[in-house]
Amino acid sequence: MDSLLTIITEPSPILHQPAKEVVNFNREITNLIAQMRETMLRHDGIGLAASQIGKPIRLAIIEAKTSGQKNSPKIEIPFSILINPKIISAGGKRVREIEGCLSIPGVEVEVERPGSIEIKFQNETGQRQRLFLDGLFSRIVQHETDHLNGLLITDHGKPIKPEAN
Ligand code: CO
Repeated sequence: MDSLLTIITEPSPILHQPAKEVVNFNREITNLIAQMRETMLRHDGIGLAASQIGKPIRLAIIEAKTSGQKNSPKIEIPFSILINPKIISAGGKRVREIEGCLSIPGVEVEVERPGSIEIKFQNETGQRQRLFLDGLFSRIVQHETDHLNGLLITDHGKPIKPEAN
C-alpha cells in the first residue's frame, strides 16, 4: 500500500493561509500522522506541516536522523508530533541560519530567529504538553509554526543566489 502523500509546492495559496485548530483526536489524525512521517522521511525532510500536504490544520511533525552524509542533520531529534503548537516565549541570542523547505525546492534563505523558545502543544491523544527548546529543534519548530500561520522562509528574506563557481 502506498501511503505517500503529495507535497504541495509554491506557488500555492494553501501555503499562505493560517491553518485551523485541531479539535478531534481520532484515528483519522493518527493515520494522517503516519502518512506524513513516511512522506517526510522519503523526501529527506526534518519537519513537515499538514498545510504542506494540503490539509490546513494545525499539525506538524519533526524528526532528524544523522546519516553521516553531507547534508544530513548534525544532531538527532526524536520523532515529535506537535498539534496546535503555540510559542509562548522566545529568548536567547538571535541566530541567522540558512533554511530550506520541501515546499520551495532548491531555494535557501538565511532566516534570523530567536535561539530558544518555550512551546505548548498537544500530542496525538490531545494531551497538553510544554517544552523548552534551543538549537536545531527550536529552529525547526519555529519554521513549522510559521507554516501553520501561512508563513514561508521567503517571507523572512530573499533567496540566496547560488554561487557561480
Ligand atoms: Co517548510
